[in-house]
Amino acid sequence: MRAMVSAKSGAAVMAAAMLIGSIAACGSSSDNGGNPPGSDAGPGDAGPGDAGTSGPPQRLSETGLYSDMATKQVAAASLEYAPAYALWSDAADKKRWIVLPAGARIDTTDMDHWRFPVGTKLFKEFSRGGKRLETRLIEHVADTGKLEDDYLASTFVWRDDESDADLAVDGARNIRGTDHDVPSRQDCFKCHRGEPGAILGFSAIQLFQPSAPASAMTLRRLVEQGKLTAPPAADANFSAPGDEATARAFGYLHANCGHCHNENGIAWADNPMKLRLLVGERDAATSSIYKATVKARMDRPKTSGDEFRVVAGHPEKSGLFYRMSLRDGTPESMPPIATKHVDSDAVSVVKAWIERLPPSP
Ligand code: HEC
Ligand code: HEC
Repeated sequence: MRAMVSAKSGAAVMAAAMLIGSIAACGSSSDNGGNPPGSDAGPGDAGPGDAGTSGPPQRLSETGLYSDMATKQVAAASLEYAPAYALWSDAADKKRWIVLPAGARIDTTDMDHWRFPVGTKLFKEFSRGGKRLETRLIEHVADTGKLEDDYLASTFVWRDDESDADLAVDGARNIRGTDHDVPSRQDCFKCHRGEPGAILGFSAIQLFQPSAPASAMTLRRLVEQGKLTAPPAADANFSAPGDEATARAFGYLHANCGHCHNENGIAWADNPMKLRLLVGERDAATSSIYKATVKARMDRPKTSGDEFRVVAGHPEKSGLFYRMSLRDGTPESMPPIATKHVDSDAVSVVKAWIERLPPSP
């Protein structure tokens, strides 16, 4: 492998960097496969903390996530879940919860793009070594058709005594003595616009977890509880396609790259390269990720000089592999925001996939 050094970047890269700005992580550690504790409560019944009377919440204790802030007991309606493929956030630990309004269902008419009822809230907590850093909230508040008005994105930074967490509209850096940065409200949408319903990780592909315990908040459980307007067939398979090495690589790209690299994402105008899976893509070699990468020419080779995004058998000649192996603040790093450290597990996963690809004729 060539040395992965920060490199001088071209004008296009600088433009992209300016477009993106500097954003902190929203990603996840490699916590996929971790099965969240199940809850016997069905989705529904948003708790009493759910006031919404006097403007957006200023403190996490006002959001209804917890029923008891002091003991950190979450409300019965706050259902914990974990996506099958998580976003890397420099190895931060994460917990996630969904709160659906009582009796409401998720519109799954388009199985690739779920639409959540107004009133739905999703939370994601970031911590390191047991220390809570921030808890993010996306709430579906209206249906005007304008993403930024319809979804309220907030993050709350934890106090040192963890008695509560306070709204941080403009983001924050180096939270609680770690190198964890918090994105500003406007930065949230640079990634979350990647889905028309703003939610990136609570989806058919992410919740398809056939080996999870019955109590876990998975696709199967949502179906059982009648929470989907158009439930999938009982034998539906929404796992990432391909053999194990391929599926792991595609799952990683889907969760870590696909929100910018799809028709709705911020990278599309620059290069239409789709790195997001669709439920109907059951064959790896004809999937959009494969077509967008293997033997596909780089729009702009940049510093590496790589001609192709992925060259079968040759990670060291693959522009995609090169760029995901960079950090150090170079705008060529992929993802270009929200991470300061290379995800070395993911690098091995993508390397294994590329090495095993049959050579092109
Ligand atoms: C670098 C891209 C990125 C940025 C910036 C970002 N997020 Fe996310 N976020 C994601 C991805 C991808 C997921 C789903 C994967 C996961 O949960 O690990 C996610 C998950 C979430 C979730 C759980 C619901 C869901 O969409 O899956 C919430 C809540 C959330 N983010 C809130 C925020 C808020 C609030 C901000 C801004 C303060 C923000 N995020 C900034 C990429 C991002
Ligand atoms: C926050 C949005 C965002 C995320 C997340 C993201 N990218 Fe990108 N990516 C961009 C933008 C914008 C460009 C175009 C500008 C540039 O080339 O730097 C780009 C360009 C690229 C290119 C160059 C394509 C070409 O043909 O020139 C590759 C390869 C790439 N990204 C791979 C990835 C991979 C792999 C991931 C996940 C590990 C990823 N990206 C995650 C925004 C993103």
